[in-house]
Order: sequence, then C-alpha cells, then structure tokens
Amino acid sequence: MNKKQGYVYVWPFYTRVIHWLIALTFTFAFILSLYENLLNLHVAVGITFGVMLVYRIIWGFIGPKYATFNTFKLSLPQLKKYFKDKIETRYREIPAGHNPASSWYTLIVLGCGSIIAITGSLIYGIQEGNGYLGFLNNNYYMYSNILLDIHIYLSYTLLIWVIIHISGVFVEQFYHKTNMAFAMITGYKKTKGEDSNPGTYKSGLTYIFLILSAFTFFVATDGRHNPFVVNKFEEFHYETDMPLYNKECGTCHKPYPPFMLPNSSWDRIQKGLKNHFGEEISPTHKKEDNKILLNDQTVIFNYLRRYSADKSTREISVKVMESLNGARGRKSITKIQIWKDIHSKIPPHIFKSKKVKRKANCFACHKNFEKGIIEDIDIYIPK
Ligand code: HEC
Ligand code: HEC
Repeated sequence: MNKKQGYVYVWPFYTRVIHWLIALTFTFAFILSLYENLLNLHVAVGITFGVMLVYRIIWGFIGPKYATFNTFKLSLPQLKKYFKDKIETRYREIPAGHNPASSWYTLIVLGCGSIIAITGSLIYGIQEGNGYLGFLNNNYYMYSNILLDIHIYLSYTLLIWVIIHISGVFVEQFYHKTNMAFAMITGYKKTKGEDSNPGTYKSGLTYIFLILSAFTFFVATDGRHNPFVVNKFEEFHYETDMPLYNKECGTCHKPYPPFMLPNSSWDRIQKGLKNHFGEEISPTHKKEDNKILLNDQTVIFNYLRRYSADKSTREISVKVMESLNGARGRKSITKIQIWKDIHSKIPPHIFKSKKVKRKANCFACHKNFEKGIIEDIDIYIPK
C-alpha cells in the first residue's frame, strides 16, 4: 500500500460516503425547510437522510474496524480524561478510531437524527395526508403540532451540535495539528494502529444502500403520484362526481372545494341564493336562466355538506374549524381569520391586479384549486 509513514487508514471509502451523505442531506433538508414551496424536495432529501441513518446504524454493528459501536469509548471517566489531556497537552497522540467525544457525538447524531426523520415522516402523513403514512391523518391529526415542535427543536439542536463538531475539528486541525480535518476526506489519520479494511460483502452492502438512497430520492422527487409523497385525499372531479355542482355553480366562478367551508357556511349560502354576492340565483320550480331548480339545489348543497370542513381532516379544514372556534361560518372564505392570516404577507395590490382581480379568485394563484389541490408547490402569484 502506498501510504504515508505515520498514518493509519481509519475511514474506508464507505464510511466516508455515509458521513458526507448524512452531513449533506441534513444541511440541505435544513435549508429547504425554510422554503415552504420546496416541501417536496425537503421530504425527498429527508428520506435520503433517513435511509443513510439506518445504514449508519447497521454499519455500527457490522461495519469495519473503528466504525462499530463496540469500539466507542463511552464511559464518563474516559470523556473527562479526554478533555483534561486535550487542555493540558497540545501535541498529543490521538486514537485511531473514535475518541470519547466523537463517540458521544456520533451516538447523539444518530439518536437525534432518527427522531427527526421519524417525526418528519409522521408529520408528513398526519398533517398533510401524504406518503406512506397518509392513512394516519384520519385519526391522529391532533398530534401534528407536538410532532412538528419536536421535529423543529431537534433539528436546531442537531444544527448546534454539528457546529460544535466542526469547531472541534478545527481545534484539532489548527491547534493540536493532528490533521484531523482531512481524515474524513482521505481516510487517513495521523496516528498508530491497524488499517481498516471493510471486505467485499460489506462494500457490497454499501452499494445496495447507496443505490437505495438514490432510488428513494429520485422516486420521491418524481411528481406527486409516487408512494412517498402521494396525497391520500382524492381530487374532486365534479364533471363526473357531481355534474350539477359544476354546471350550476361553476359558471361565474370555478366551483369552490366543499372542504373550505363548514356546514354553517354552506347553509347560509344556500339560504342566501336570492342575493348571492350581488347575483340572483334563487331556486325555482321551473327552468330559468341563472336560477337553480329546487331539487338540484338540494342535491348540490347536500353534496357540499357531505364534504364540508366539519367532516374533513385536511390540514386547511381543521384550521378553518379551529379559526372559527365554534362561531357560525362566514359566507365568504376570505372573511375567515385563518384565510387572512395565511395571506397576510401578500401585498394588497396583487389581489387587485389584472390577472387576480379579487381575493376570492383563489384559482388565479392556486393551480387546480377547484379539484381540491392546495399544495405549496402549486402556488403561483401571477405577474
Ligand atoms: C351568477 C353568477 C354566480 C353563480 C351562478 C354562482 N356564484 Fe358563487 N359567487 C358569485 C360572485 C360574484 C361571488 C363573489 C366573489 C367575490 O367575493 O369576489 C361568489 C362567491 C361565492 C363564494 C364565496 C367565495 C369567497 O370566499 O369569497 C362561494 C362559496 C360561492 N360563490 C359558492 C357558490 C355556489 C355553491 C354556487 C351554486 C349554488 C354559486 N356560487 C353560483 C357569483 C356566482
Ligand atoms: C394572489 C394570490 C392568491 C390568491 C388569490 C389566493 N391565495 Fe391562497 N395562498 C397564496 C400564497 C402565496 C400562499 C402561501 C402563503 C405563505 O405560505 O406564506 C397561499 C396559501 C394558501 C393556503 C395554505 C396552503 C398550505 O399548504 O398551507 C390555503 C389553504 C389557501 N392559500 C387558500 C386560498 C383560498 C381558499 C383562496 C380563495 C378564497 C386563496 N387562497 C386565494 C396566494 C393566493
């Protein structure tokens, strides 16, 4: 082997790949989380992060020398001694594998990271009804806020932890001059010990996991109908499911999805058809322009009540109900406090612009809104 004198091959290629993939996916997922309309990408990167964590944990049991958990130095006296030596002796010998600080560091990353990945998957399923865990949305919606808090606080904790880790590496590099920063790049550490050699079957396992993580990433980013991100809520197709609604209520504006408003709102709209936002579309017994046959009216409003906000566990329906807090529903979605809150950052002139015209023209900014799709990636502010 053409290696430098005084160096040991501690981190074989595979260990380094895992290390950097965990680091990169965490960083990217963190940055992406700041952009709501990039949620799908955040989820895809998060899944890859999760897959790599699983692999790192398996690696901790069966991996090569120095990477396994049984070589970790976890006793408190060892940790104390490590820091004592570090402070007292500038040029000291470092162990080939994990030192007590990096042993603890790694365990905490794996623990914290796993909880972040698990809570992330749960929130995605429970809050938005998305992905493999979308079925949990029906019964567990009430846990979404607490899960989100855990997910966020632990992510910040991990970020701080990573910064501490990087600072530690710099101290090693520039103060102790152990050349630590390059160990995770070249694989070699300036120390004494035996070289690590993962062997073929462990290398094979690495390839399987690399392919798996690339596969999950690409599947998860490919459209919205793949099993990782698919939404459990069916789209509304009024043309086939409720042609009457489409015909009678879809002429002046596109039909509004029923789950946006509670029963009490639909009741009020039904009762107020004589003066429907200035238009008269009152029900009649005979066919007339701009009027709805009484029977048809009953069918339409029964349909709207069947899928109203009261009965839905969609995120927005739950929020509408919370926002109303028992009060009677408004006739207009835009008068509900939660709608105002969500849209408070949009400058008023945008709503008056040529392409939007009115606040109630949800369809101008939310693509396919009439089908009941309100995904962040479908929001366009017309220019
Ligand atoms: C003759 C035209 C016309 C027809 C037909 C019509 N609407 Fe409307 N609708 C309007 C107008 C105008 C508004 C006010 C839009 C605005 O606020 O700018 C409106 C607003 C609404 C809103 C409130 C949107 C919001 O949040 O402000 C709902 C809900 C609604 N209509 C439901 C219905 C239903 C249900 C039917 C069928 C029974 C229907 N509309 C048929 C003209 C019509
Ligand atoms: C001028 C464009 C525009 C119009 C018109 C508009 N929205 Fe929005 N809507 C947005 C934007 C932008 C966001 C994202 C706001 C944010 O995240 O800060 C948003 C967010 C939302 C969300 C939250 C989405 C989520 O994933 O959490 C819902 C629900 C929503 N809008 C419903 C409506 C409804 C219902 C209407 C019509 C009554 C409407 N919007 C009209 C631009 C618009």
